[in-house]
Amino acid sequence: MSALASFLTSSIGRKVSMAITGLLLIGFLVTHLAANLLILVDAEAYNEYSHALISNPLIYLAEAGLLLFFVVHFVSGVIITMRGRNARKQGYAEDRWAGGTSHKSLSSATMIFSGIFFLLFVPLHIIGFKFGAWYETSTGIRDLHRLVIEEFQNPLLVAFYVVGMIVLGFHLWHGFGSAFESLGVTYRTQLRRAGQLLAVLVAGGFLLIPVAVFVMGG
Ligand code: HEM
Repeated sequence: MSALASFLTSSIGRKVSMAITGLLLIGFLVTHLAANLLILVDAEAYNEYSHALISNPLIYLAEAGLLLFFVVHFVSGVIITMRGRNARKQGYAEDRWAGGTSHKSLSSATMIFSGIFFLLFVPLHIIGFKFGAWYETSTGIRDLHRLVIEEFQNPLLVAFYVVGMIVLGFHLWHGFGSAFESLGVTYRTQLRRAGQLLAVLVAGGFLLIPVAVFVMGG
């Protein structure tokens, strides 16, 4: 095995690759949120932006990269969690928060479950939007804005997104700070606070879209 391959399959290597892919996925989420907030302010700009994106041949490379980051992040997370569990075959007699300097929280203890949720959420989301109904504007480009507005008239779908964004918030609450820790960056408290702020802004920003569209009624 090459030195790189043996590093990547070691415990530290898996933590590092999970951290790097996690931060890259957060980068995607921040740009995805900024673009999608246009839904609420300018339909034409939103359609033009998404047209520019899908008509750029580099989109295939970006999508392949995104899929790779997602798979590496997920597989590393599952392996790390399973190794942690196998290392202690017998469960604790009592399940309690350690308190004191421990950073264990509901968010950190449920990372694997919030992660598994996205295995369901992301494909459903892509089927609904990327492969959803194809409307066209008068200028002959895809009217993605119309599709999003129509989809978010459905209260069940809005509820699914609200739950999904709360789960996303939980995942980011612990994930961001933890990624920097895996990369050996210090400033633990500041990073934790920054991660928690980012979680609230990203999840809250995404949550606003379906709720606002539903409340405004299209
Ligand atoms: C209310 C929130 C969201 C809205 C309105 C939204 C909207 C959209 C739309 C319209 C597309 C299709 C873009 C196109 O075909 O040009 C898309 C793609 C996508 N979305 Fe979202 N999104 C939201 C939240 C999320 C979240 C939370 C995630 C990840 C956890 C996510 C991940 C993706 C991915 C991976 C794609 C496929 C990108 C590609 O293949 O180019 N989205 N989204």
